[in-house]
Amino acid sequence: MDNREQWGSRAGFILAAVGSAIGLGNIWRFPYMAYENGGGAFFIPYIFALLTAGIPFMIMEFGLGHKYKGSAPKVLAAVNAKYEWLGWVQIMIAGIIAVYYAAVIGWTINYLGFAFDGAWGTDTKGFFFGEYLGLTSSPTELGGIRWPIFGACALTWGLTWLACNSGIRGGIERACKVLIPLLFALVLVFIGRVITLPGATVGLDFLFTPDFSKLADFSVWAAAYGQIFFSLSIGFGIMIAYSSYLPKNADICNNAAMTVFINCGFSMLAGIMIFSVLGSMAHSTGQAVSDVAGAGVGLAFITIPAAINTMPAPLFFGTIFFLCLTMAGVSSHISIVEAVTSSLIDKFGASRQKVVTVLCIIGFALTAVFTTGAGLLILDIVDHFINNICLLFAALVEIVLISWVIGLDGVRNDVNTYSDFSVGKLWAFSLRIITVLVLGYSFFSSLYTKIT
Ligand code: PHE
Ligand code: NA
Repeated sequence: MDNREQWGSRAGFILAAVGSAIGLGNIWRFPYMAYENGGGAFFIPYIFALLTAGIPFMIMEFGLGHKYKGSAPKVLAAVNAKYEWLGWVQIMIAGIIAVYYAAVIGWTINYLGFAFDGAWGTDTKGFFFGEYLGLTSSPTELGGIRWPIFGACALTWGLTWLACNSGIRGGIERACKVLIPLLFALVLVFIGRVITLPGATVGLDFLFTPDFSKLADFSVWAAAYGQIFFSLSIGFGIMIAYSSYLPKNADICNNAAMTVFINCGFSMLAGIMIFSVLGSMAHSTGQAVSDVAGAGVGLAFITIPAAINTMPAPLFFGTIFFLCLTMAGVSSHISIVEAVTSSLIDKFGASRQKVVTVLCIIGFALTAVFTTGAGLLILDIVDHFINNICLLFAALVEIVLISWVIGLDGVRNDVNTYSDFSVGKLWAFSLRIITVLVLGYSFFSSLYTKIT
């Protein structure tokens, strides 16, 4: 008897997969990566990575979930019981990400409120570290819970609970069908307005002016691959879980290509949004764009608020920006929790409601650590370790195991049966050789820099 849940429509599945892929990383990581690694020239390694790793890997993960109708541990166990552990390693990494990703979404929710009342003031840096985070001087000095952050994190876990608890079609699909189109619309509205501000085009010049000399640097290519993997949420069982809810006759290859292109298109829009803002701010403060460009937490919670202060209609820009971050974050958070949920349901046969409720309670309890005064310090450590070691490790083991040990033939037959276009030698070559080499290089060089 096959009573596995299913997506309601093809568009619903793609929107959910895109919802997972589009996250905080597209908005605060991609623009800076592009700027740092050759500007317009970065698109060459980026598109190369997209074609040789992003799409092939996505087809493989969709194919695995579709063929074996299960989450990562179940898929690997179906192939060979002795590989099930890898699935659980990936799920554990996903679980850790879910815990601290929720904290950052909590901050974006709080900042959405601050955009309304202008609470961040003129000293956005002092406000973020001091008044808001109450940052302590060491990760072991917790300094007590910050209640507004605690509340916003509770809301984040509550929203994720609501989506996952209501099931694939009635919860996750329904949420992403609203969140993702709205996200695109808001970013377009934002760009439409910001692009006309003085200085905006100077910012875009910074982003897009190509520096072709960077292409000789192998680390630029590795950076492009790293960004593709992180951005597409591949390598930790998320896309495997989502595709396990596809109907038998789903077109895997096409779905994978669409998911990848929509995600990367959004990254491009985010780049335009961020660098127009930076250019506009540089113009009004008389700084150089290179002095204000940055990534991550500093960009989102210090630089952008400062930039918004210098723009006309700060309320408009501030609320849209933080609403976008929140929506992009929540749709990704849902997917991480669903990957863990589906694995536990597959393994123990427990009810979805029970699994989701227990997971969200434990997850929120752990996130509470990140709502203390030491939250950012602990988050930096965990995030660094996850991004630079765990992600690469999990993806590398997965690709070596599947493409070399188990072999790609089973997946290939499955995805070719129902797809518009089929994959063959080039696909296998991309996975077995190119992706393995680049990931292997990135993992060992990252490990090496950690050790030395
Ligand atoms: N892909 C998301 C982003 O770009 C991040 C993410 C990582 C989401 C892992 C889910 C799982 O921000
Ligand atoms: Na992404």
